[in-house]
Amino acid sequence: MSMTFKPLHPTFIVEVGGIDLSKTPTDEQIAELRSALDQHVVLVFRDQDFEEDQQVAFSARFGPPERPWRHVRPELKNMVRGQAVSMIGNLDEKGEIVPPTDVRRLSQRGNMLWHTDSSYRLPPGLYTMLYGKEVPPQGGATEFCDVRAAYDALPEAMRRRIDDLRVEHNLNRTFKEADSPLLSPAEAQALPPVTQPLVRAHPVTGRKSLMLGSPASVIVGWSVEDSRALLDELLAHATQERFCYTHFWKLRELVMWDNRSSIHRGRPFEDSVHKRQLRRTTICDVASEAALA
Ligand code: OGA
Ligand code: MN
Repeated sequence: MSMTFKPLHPTFIVEVGGIDLSKTPTDEQIAELRSALDQHVVLVFRDQDFEEDQQVAFSARFGPPERPWRHVRPELKNMVRGQAVSMIGNLDEKGEIVPPTDVRRLSQRGNMLWHTDSSYRLPPGLYTMLYGKEVPPQGGATEFCDVRAAYDALPEAMRRRIDDLRVEHNLNRTFKEADSPLLSPAEAQALPPVTQPLVRAHPVTGRKSLMLGSPASVIVGWSVEDSRALLDELLAHATQERFCYTHFWKLRELVMWDNRSSIHRGRPFEDSVHKRQLRRTTICDVASEAALA
């Protein structure tokens, strides 16, 4: 059976058919998916039976798993299973809805601000996979933005102005904006601010994209005020409707994306009434770190 790729948006996002993720994919299938990610950025697989160990094994075919950093907080323990799996949503380990004031909920509020995964770490995220275990009947979508198309649509003078800029990324900036508890001193020490390029080129396609998001705090060598003005302007440009796609979750879907070519955010839902639980795995972009070294 060969795979099929059905476009869901004019510039990115395809629905992948002809693959059953409960069976171990062949090397050829993994290579085809990798090349689909290079081109289409976000892949949606519907009606998949996908157990946790299968997701961990599937993810590992694409690169090294990201290590969790939250081990410092025992109360967040249930968000991290083993090395590589975290649960995104509003449930506790027994599957019950946790109150909105619970630290597990508060610490995930940043997911609702535009970002690319782990831009506040080195290496940053490469691919992220979310599998729908519980999805609300309304709302709770994930919105994606094609930051390659957004870059291409900038006036040439702006592209020239920003091409070589670097930006400091800091998770506490997200937490402040999201009104989440800030990093403890020990966590802040384990997670110091990092710098990232504002514009990055995809190593395979060569296409340039905007590396934006809530952790982006200040442009290196610029004042906070000037940085904010430009970063806000670029984010407003990038997140215009024409560059975005809203994914409304169904049960048993896997959505997988390339963090180098997209930014995303979670959307609200009635979180004291409905359950939402997405099982997440993330692969690190080790090549980006090597490129900096
Ligand atoms: C994430 C994330 C968005 C969502 O898990 O990295 O940003 O819709 N999730 O839950
Ligand atoms: Mn995310």
